Amino acid sequence: MTFEMTMTVYLNGEFLPITEAKISVLDRGFIFGDGVYEVIPVYSRHIFRLPEHLQRLSRSLESIKLTNPYSDSVWTNIIQKLVACNEPEDQYLYLHITRGVAKRDHAFPNPPVTPTVFLMSNPLNTPSALLLQNGISAITAPDNRWLRCDIKAISLLPNVLLRQMAIDAGCAETIMIRDNEFLTEGSSSNIFVVKDGVLLAPPKDNLMLPGITYDVVLELAAANGIPHQVRKVLLNEVLGADELLLTSSTKEVLAITVLDGKQIGTGKPGTMFAKLHGLYQNFKQEVMRA
Ligand code: PDD
Repeated sequence: MTFEMTMTVYLNGEFLPITEAKISVLDRGFIFGDGVYEVIPVYSRHIFRLPEHLQRLSRSLESIKLTNPYSDSVWTNIIQKLVACNEPEDQYLYLHITRGVAKRDHAFPNPPVTPTVFLMSNPLNTPSALLLQNGISAITAPDNRWLRCDIKAISLLPNVLLRQMAIDAGCAETIMIRDNEFLTEGSSSNIFVVKDGVLLAPPKDNLMLPGITYDVVLELAAANGIPHQVRKVLLNEVLGADELLLTSSTKEVLAITVLDGKQIGTGKPGTMFAKLHGLYQNFKQEVMRA
Protein backbone atom coordinates (compact mmCIF):
# COMPACT_ATOMS: atom_id res chain seq x y z
CA MET A 1 0.00 0.00 0.00
CA THR A 2 1.36 3.47 -0.83
CA PHE A 3 1.86 6.09 1.84
CA GLU A 4 -1.04 8.08 0.38
CA MET A 5 -3.49 5.22 0.91
CA THR A 6 -2.58 4.82 4.57
CA MET A 7 -2.41 8.47 5.51
CA THR A 8 -4.73 9.97 8.06
CA VAL A 9 -6.62 13.09 7.05
CA TYR A 10 -9.02 15.44 8.80
CA LEU A 11 -12.50 16.02 7.41
CA ASN A 12 -15.21 18.03 9.15
CA GLY A 13 -14.33 17.13 12.73
CA GLU A 14 -13.02 13.59 12.16
CA PHE A 15 -9.58 12.05 11.72
CA LEU A 16 -9.84 9.15 9.28
CA PRO A 17 -7.93 7.22 6.59
CA ILE A 18 -7.87 9.12 3.30
CA THR A 19 -9.67 6.24 1.56
CA GLU A 20 -12.67 6.85 3.84
CA ALA A 21 -12.79 10.65 3.45
CA LYS A 22 -15.77 11.56 1.25
CA ILE A 23 -17.54 14.79 0.38
CA SER A 24 -20.76 15.60 -1.46
CA VAL A 25 -20.69 16.31 -5.20
CA LEU A 26 -22.67 19.44 -4.35
CA ASP A 27 -19.79 20.85 -2.33
CA ARG A 28 -19.20 24.41 -3.55
CA GLY A 29 -15.48 23.69 -3.70
CA PHE A 30 -16.19 20.96 -6.27
CA ILE A 31 -18.87 22.91 -8.16
CA PHE A 32 -17.46 26.46 -8.13
CA GLY A 33 -13.93 26.26 -6.71
CA ASP A 34 -15.48 28.36 -3.92
CA GLY A 35 -12.92 28.09 -1.15
CA VAL A 36 -9.42 28.84 0.07
CA TYR A 37 -6.39 26.82 1.11
CA GLU A 38 -3.02 26.88 2.84
CA VAL A 39 0.19 24.87 2.48
CA ILE A 40 2.34 24.67 5.62
CA PRO A 41 5.72 22.95 5.90
CA VAL A 42 6.58 20.87 8.96
CA TYR A 43 10.22 20.20 9.89
CA SER A 44 11.02 17.50 12.46
CA ARG A 45 7.33 17.75 13.44
CA HIS A 46 7.66 21.51 14.13
CA ILE A 47 5.08 23.51 12.22
CA PHE A 48 6.74 26.31 10.24
CA ARG A 49 5.43 29.84 10.91
CA LEU A 50 2.00 28.61 11.99
CA PRO A 51 0.74 32.01 13.24
CA GLU A 52 1.65 33.59 9.88
CA HIS A 53 -0.06 30.80 7.92
CA LEU A 54 -3.19 31.05 10.10
CA GLN A 55 -3.20 34.80 9.64
CA ARG A 56 -3.00 34.46 5.85
CA LEU A 57 -5.77 31.84 5.98
CA SER A 58 -7.93 34.16 8.01
CA ARG A 59 -7.31 36.98 5.50
CA SER A 60 -8.19 34.70 2.56
CA LEU A 61 -11.42 33.64 4.31
CA GLU A 62 -12.34 37.23 5.08
CA SER A 63 -11.68 38.20 1.45
CA ILE A 64 -14.20 35.62 0.22
CA LYS A 65 -16.66 36.52 3.01
CA LEU A 66 -16.49 33.11 4.64
CA THR A 67 -16.48 33.04 8.45
CA ASN A 68 -13.41 31.29 9.83
CA PRO A 69 -14.86 27.99 11.09
CA TYR A 70 -12.29 27.64 13.90
CA SER A 71 -10.34 29.78 16.33
CA ASP A 72 -6.54 29.75 16.04
CA SER A 73 -6.31 27.45 19.06
CA VAL A 74 -8.71 24.93 17.51
CA TRP A 75 -6.74 25.08 14.22
CA THR A 76 -3.52 24.55 16.17
CA ASN A 77 -4.93 21.48 17.97
CA ILE A 78 -6.19 19.91 14.74
CA ILE A 79 -2.91 20.60 12.93
CA GLN A 80 -0.78 19.23 15.78
CA LYS A 81 -2.89 16.10 15.97
CA LEU A 82 -2.65 15.56 12.20
CA VAL A 83 1.13 15.97 12.28
CA ALA A 84 1.34 13.42 15.13
CA CYS A 85 -0.93 10.95 13.23
CA ASN A 86 1.29 10.85 10.17
CA GLU A 87 4.62 9.06 9.86
CA PRO A 88 7.12 11.42 8.19
CA GLU A 89 9.15 13.76 10.38
CA ASP A 90 9.06 16.38 7.60
CA GLN A 91 5.61 16.95 6.16
CA TYR A 92 3.66 19.48 4.24
CA LEU A 93 0.16 20.20 5.40
CA TYR A 94 -2.65 21.08 3.04
CA LEU A 95 -5.66 22.91 4.57
CA HIS A 96 -8.77 23.39 2.45
CA ILE A 97 -11.97 25.20 3.39
CA THR A 98 -14.98 25.53 1.11
CA ARG A 99 -18.31 27.32 1.51
CA GLY A 100 -19.96 23.94 2.06
CA VAL A 101 -22.67 21.85 0.44
CA ALA A 102 -25.69 23.57 -1.11
CA LYS A 103 -28.05 23.46 -4.10
CA ARG A 104 -26.15 24.83 -7.12
CA ASP A 105 -26.57 28.61 -7.23
CA HIS A 106 -23.74 31.09 -7.73
CA ALA A 107 -24.96 33.27 -4.85
CA PHE A 108 -23.89 32.28 -1.33
CA PRO A 109 -26.26 29.83 0.37
CA ASN A 110 -28.73 31.79 2.50
CA PRO A 111 -28.83 30.97 5.36
CA PRO A 112 -25.14 29.98 5.29
CA VAL A 113 -24.28 26.26 5.46
CA THR A 114 -21.47 24.64 7.42
CA PRO A 115 -18.14 25.04 5.60
CA THR A 116 -16.27 21.90 4.52
CA VAL A 117 -12.89 21.63 6.24
CA PHE A 118 -10.30 19.20 4.91
CA LEU A 119 -6.67 18.76 5.97
CA MET A 120 -4.09 16.30 4.76
CA SER A 121 -0.40 15.79 5.31
CA ASN A 122 2.11 14.66 2.69
CA PRO A 123 5.81 13.87 3.03
CA LEU A 124 7.86 17.03 2.45
CA ASN A 125 10.45 16.33 -0.22
CA THR A 126 12.53 19.46 -0.60
CA PRO A 127 14.53 19.95 -3.84
CA SER A 128 17.20 17.31 -4.55
CA ALA A 129 20.94 18.01 -4.43
CA LEU A 130 20.98 17.91 -8.24
CA LEU A 131 18.29 20.59 -8.52
CA LEU A 132 20.09 22.75 -5.98
CA GLN A 133 23.31 22.34 -7.92
CA ASN A 134 21.89 23.05 -11.39
CA GLY A 135 18.82 25.15 -10.75
CA ILE A 136 15.67 24.86 -12.84
CA SER A 137 14.45 26.12 -16.22
CA ALA A 138 11.46 28.43 -16.52
CA ILE A 139 9.47 30.24 -19.17
CA THR A 140 7.75 33.62 -19.08
CA ALA A 141 4.06 34.04 -19.90
CA PRO A 142 1.44 36.78 -19.63
CA ASP A 143 -0.25 36.83 -16.23
CA ASN A 144 -3.85 36.24 -17.33
CA ARG A 145 -5.29 35.62 -13.85
CA TRP A 146 -7.85 37.74 -12.00
CA LEU A 147 -7.06 40.81 -9.88
CA ARG A 148 -7.22 39.09 -6.46
CA CYS A 149 -4.14 36.88 -6.64
CA ASP A 150 -3.49 37.80 -2.99
CA ILE A 151 -6.28 35.38 -1.99
CA LYS A 152 -5.07 31.80 -1.67
CA ALA A 153 -8.10 30.54 -3.58
CA ILE A 154 -8.64 26.87 -4.47
CA SER A 155 -9.84 27.92 -7.95
CA LEU A 156 -6.40 27.45 -9.49
CA LEU A 157 -7.24 26.73 -13.14
CA PRO A 158 -5.16 29.65 -14.51
CA ASN A 159 -2.19 28.55 -12.37
CA VAL A 160 -2.67 24.95 -13.52
CA LEU A 161 -2.66 25.98 -17.19
CA LEU A 162 0.33 28.26 -16.69
CA ARG A 163 2.30 25.53 -14.94
CA GLN A 164 1.44 23.04 -17.70
CA MET A 165 2.80 25.51 -20.27
CA ALA A 166 6.16 25.21 -18.50
CA ILE A 167 5.97 21.42 -18.38
CA ASP A 168 5.08 21.24 -22.08
CA ALA A 169 8.15 23.37 -22.79
CA GLY A 170 10.34 20.97 -20.77
CA CYS A 171 10.61 23.48 -17.89
CA ALA A 172 9.63 23.50 -14.23
CA GLU A 173 7.95 26.87 -13.67
CA THR A 174 6.22 29.75 -15.46
CA ILE A 175 7.12 33.29 -14.46
CA MET A 176 4.19 35.61 -14.96
CA ILE A 177 4.37 39.09 -16.44
CA ARG A 178 1.47 41.56 -16.12
CA ASP A 179 0.58 43.88 -18.97
CA ASN A 180 3.77 42.86 -20.81
CA GLU A 181 5.47 45.13 -18.30
CA PHE A 182 6.24 43.82 -14.82
CA LEU A 183 6.86 40.63 -12.82
CA THR A 184 4.17 39.25 -10.55
CA GLU A 185 5.11 35.68 -9.46
CA GLY A 186 5.44 32.07 -10.54
CA SER A 187 2.49 29.73 -11.13
CA SER A 188 3.05 28.33 -7.62
CA SER A 189 5.95 30.36 -6.25
CA ASN A 190 7.26 33.86 -5.65
CA ILE A 191 10.09 35.16 -7.82
CA PHE A 192 13.08 37.33 -6.92
CA VAL A 193 15.48 39.03 -9.35
CA VAL A 194 19.15 39.71 -8.56
CA LYS A 195 20.95 42.54 -10.33
CA ASP A 196 24.36 43.97 -9.42
CA GLY A 197 24.26 42.31 -5.99
CA VAL A 198 20.80 43.66 -5.11
CA LEU A 199 17.87 41.36 -4.40
CA LEU A 200 14.71 42.74 -6.03
CA ALA A 201 11.25 41.61 -4.89
CA PRO A 202 7.86 42.64 -6.30
CA PRO A 203 5.67 44.31 -3.66
CA LYS A 204 2.90 42.37 -1.92
CA ASP A 205 -0.25 43.68 -3.55
CA ASN A 206 -3.43 42.26 -5.08
CA LEU A 207 -1.48 40.80 -8.02
CA MET A 208 0.52 38.20 -6.10
CA LEU A 209 0.24 35.78 -3.24
CA PRO A 210 1.97 37.12 -0.12
CA GLY A 211 4.34 34.18 0.31
CA ILE A 212 5.42 33.11 3.76
CA THR A 213 8.78 31.97 2.32
CA TYR A 214 9.06 35.34 0.51
CA ASP A 215 8.82 37.04 3.92
CA VAL A 216 11.44 34.72 5.44
CA VAL A 217 13.84 35.44 2.57
CA LEU A 218 13.41 39.21 2.92
CA GLU A 219 13.87 38.95 6.70
CA LEU A 220 17.06 36.92 6.20
CA ALA A 221 18.32 39.47 3.67
CA ALA A 222 17.65 42.34 6.10
CA ALA A 223 19.23 40.54 9.06
CA ASN A 224 22.36 39.68 7.09
CA GLY A 225 23.07 42.97 5.37
CA ILE A 226 22.08 41.75 1.89
CA PRO A 227 21.07 44.73 -0.25
CA HIS A 228 17.43 44.38 -1.24
CA GLN A 229 14.59 46.43 -2.64
CA VAL A 230 10.86 45.75 -2.65
CA ARG A 231 9.48 47.47 -5.73
CA LYS A 232 7.91 46.87 -9.11
CA VAL A 233 10.30 44.66 -11.12
CA LEU A 234 10.16 45.23 -14.88
CA LEU A 235 10.18 42.58 -17.59
CA ASN A 236 13.56 43.75 -18.92
CA GLU A 237 15.00 43.37 -15.40
CA VAL A 238 13.75 39.77 -15.32
CA LEU A 239 15.21 39.03 -18.75
CA GLY A 240 18.50 40.78 -17.90
CA ALA A 241 18.84 39.35 -14.37
CA ASP A 242 22.19 38.17 -13.00
CA GLU A 243 20.23 35.58 -10.99
CA LEU A 244 16.61 34.55 -10.61
CA LEU A 245 15.29 32.89 -7.45
CA LEU A 246 12.06 31.07 -6.75
CA THR A 247 10.58 30.60 -3.27
CA SER A 248 7.73 28.51 -1.87
CA SER A 249 6.88 26.46 1.20
CA THR A 250 7.69 23.19 -0.57
CA LYS A 251 10.57 24.32 -2.82
CA GLU A 252 12.13 26.65 -0.19
CA VAL A 253 14.71 28.64 -2.23
CA LEU A 254 15.69 27.49 -5.74
CA ALA A 255 17.71 29.07 -8.53
CA ILE A 256 16.24 29.53 -12.00
CA THR A 257 19.20 29.20 -14.35
CA VAL A 258 17.52 29.10 -17.76
CA LEU A 259 14.68 31.39 -18.82
CA ASP A 260 12.90 31.09 -22.19
CA GLY A 261 15.76 28.87 -23.36
CA LYS A 262 18.49 31.42 -22.47
CA GLN A 263 21.00 31.19 -19.63
CA ILE A 264 20.54 33.49 -16.67
CA GLY A 265 23.95 34.87 -15.63
CA THR A 266 26.48 32.07 -15.82
CA GLY A 267 23.75 29.44 -16.27
CA LYS A 268 24.56 28.06 -12.79
CA PRO A 269 23.09 29.02 -9.40
CA GLY A 270 24.88 32.21 -8.34
CA THR A 271 26.29 33.71 -5.17
CA MET A 272 23.01 35.26 -4.00
CA PHE A 273 21.33 31.88 -4.28
CA ALA A 274 24.16 30.20 -2.34
CA LYS A 275 23.93 32.81 0.40
CA LEU A 276 20.16 32.84 0.77
CA HIS A 277 19.79 29.09 0.45
CA GLY A 278 22.48 28.65 3.12
CA LEU A 279 20.80 31.16 5.43
CA TYR A 280 17.44 29.46 4.90
CA GLN A 281 18.88 26.03 5.72
CA ASN A 282 20.58 27.40 8.86
CA PHE A 283 17.37 29.07 9.90
CA LYS A 284 15.52 25.79 9.44
CA GLN A 285 18.11 23.82 11.43
CA GLU A 286 18.55 26.31 14.22
CA VAL A 287 15.11 27.81 14.60
CA MET A 288 12.83 25.04 13.40
CA ARG A 289 14.39 21.68 14.16
CA ALA A 290 16.05 22.70 17.40
N1 PDD B 1 2.02 27.53 -3.45
N2 PDD B 1 2.59 32.25 -5.27
C1 PDD B 1 1.74 31.26 -5.60
C2 PDD B 1 0.81 31.48 -6.74
C3 PDD B 1 1.74 30.06 -4.86
O1 PDD B 1 0.86 29.08 -5.19
C4 PDD B 1 2.66 29.89 -3.80
C5 PDD B 1 2.73 28.63 -2.98
C6 PDD B 1 3.55 30.94 -3.49
C7 PDD B 1 4.54 30.85 -2.35
O2 PDD B 1 3.91 30.99 -1.10
P1 PDD B 1 4.52 30.30 0.22
O3 PDD B 1 5.92 30.76 0.35
O4 PDD B 1 3.65 30.79 1.31
O5 PDD B 1 4.44 28.80 0.00
C8 PDD B 1 3.47 32.10 -4.24
C9 PDD B 1 1.90 26.34 -2.65
C10 PDD B 1 3.20 25.78 -2.16
C11 PDD B 1 1.00 25.34 -3.37
O6 PDD B 1 0.02 25.82 -3.95
O7 PDD B 1 1.26 24.14 -3.32
